[in-house]
Amino acid sequence: MTTDPMNRREFAGAAGIAAGAAVMLGAPAIGKSAPASEKVRLVLIGAGSRGNQLLGSFLELPEVDIVGIVDVDDHHAGETAERVKKAKGNNPDATRDYRPTLDRKDVDGVIIATPDHWHALPAIQAVMAGKDVYVEKPVAHNIAEGQAMLQAARKTNRVMAVGTQQRSSSHFQKAVEVVRSGALGKVFWVQTWNYENISPTGIGKFPDGEAPSHVDYERWLGPAPLRPFNPNRFHLLFRWFFDYAGGMMSDWGVHLNDIVLWALDAKGPRSVDTTGGIFTSDDNRDTPDTMQVVYEFPECVLTYSMRKGNGLKFNGHDYGILFCGTNGSLLLDRSGFEIIPDHTVLPYGIRMVQGDRPLRKIDLKAEKVKGDDGQDPHVKNFVECMKTRARPTSDIEIAHRSTNTCHLGNISYKLGRKLFWDVETESFKNDPEANAQLRREPRKGYELPGMG
Ligand SMILES: NC(=O)c1ccc[n+]([C@@H]2O[C@H](COP(=O)([O-])OP(=O)(O)OC[C@H]3O[C@@H](n4cnc5c(N)ncnc54)[C@H](O)[C@@H]3O)[C@@H](O)[C@H]2O)c1
Repeated sequence: MTTDPMNRREFAGAAGIAAGAAVMLGAPAIGKSAPASEKVRLVLIGAGSRGNQLLGSFLELPEVDIVGIVDVDDHHAGETAERVKKAKGNNPDATRDYRPTLDRKDVDGVIIATPDHWHALPAIQAVMAGKDVYVEKPVAHNIAEGQAMLQAARKTNRVMAVGTQQRSSSHFQKAVEVVRSGALGKVFWVQTWNYENISPTGIGKFPDGEAPSHVDYERWLGPAPLRPFNPNRFHLLFRWFFDYAGGMMSDWGVHLNDIVLWALDAKGPRSVDTTGGIFTSDDNRDTPDTMQVVYEFPECVLTYSMRKGNGLKFNGHDYGILFCGTNGSLLLDRSGFEIIPDHTVLPYGIRMVQGDRPLRKIDLKAEKVKGDDGQDPHVKNFVECMKTRARPTSDIEIAHRSTNTCHLGNISYKLGRKLFWDVETESFKNDPEANAQLRREPRKGYELPGMG
């Protein structure tokens, strides 16, 4: 497949990212299509836990060649390249720096599975170099980065798919159809949650130390503030620190809120109000272990609840989504969904004052649907879109909005108050203090093109 790079100045000028307002462009076609049989050559950037899970799905596809593995940890890069060799027989490059791979003419796209603070820069540089992108969720470290990614994808006409793979599970699709069909009645209340008990040790406390010699730690930090190496702030556990990610809210909340926005056909809430803290974990995280977020939509309330100090499940689910309508409820997670019909009642007080009246009959059938995993079809959809040039199932625009709900929850938590959000301009209404939280200053040398 051929590539069509765009130079940095062209992009920076055209995108006008500094204004901060998201441009939701709607052009459906994204370049020339290629025959279905044509090979797709991909490089994996970030060969840690998720990168290797994804690789399992990409290696299943006969039309995909993995031609490079990039990781700032030489062990991760080398071991993952070895895995590809065993599976496919080719010898992918194993390197520390992704930038030279973006100049390779034989690379059609990149899979980005780095920590959240390392999503935006490679994704934008990749589309500017004419590559298509599969980037992990949450879209980015902050809202401005997500806006820049969306604009870059649109400006360059490249595919930018995001790893919110639940959208490719058939039971999530069916559940969304049920909510949208009106069968539940008027849906006015939605709950999402993550509950577990890791108290009191949590991720523990470890002293700063020397970064391992097989790691380019300065580059791992990238746009994040420079600070000494600490194993708790590194592989896998980075997600519990605001310098690199957004805690449970964006790590898991994005999967849950993504489905809610889809089912409600909404771009985002009009307000957010978060409370919480670090109450049960005696560790060195700086993201909360207890959190309650209340979002308002025009005619619906959404709550996200998270606790790490008590594992009592909600109706047997330690995470999930509950849609409540005036006819009944739909309880959903990766294992499947359940429709639970409601019944109407006539309370004693009303009956005493107004007399008896017939109860509204609810005609909703109970149903249980088994779940399936969306990862393989999600990856397949990305590869197909590279050929057909169609917008992917989790296009950057969709996932950016879902990610925004998580950033909103965290910004309200940090400021300790209710905030009012304009979904069209993607900014807080008359609130310079909150708007200052839309972006963070990247470390010198790691500025986004057009944002520096
Ligand atoms: N879609 C899902 O269900 C799902 C599941 C898990 C994780 N994720 C997402 O995947 C991302 C990675 O998470 P993880 O759990 O795999 O973390 P991880 O720490 O296991 O892996 C990240 C890898 O990226 C490497 N890396 C860091 N900076 C780099 C750079 N500049 N260039 C190349 N490599 C770099 C690290 O060395 C590490 O090997 C996160 O954004 C996370 O939210 C998504």
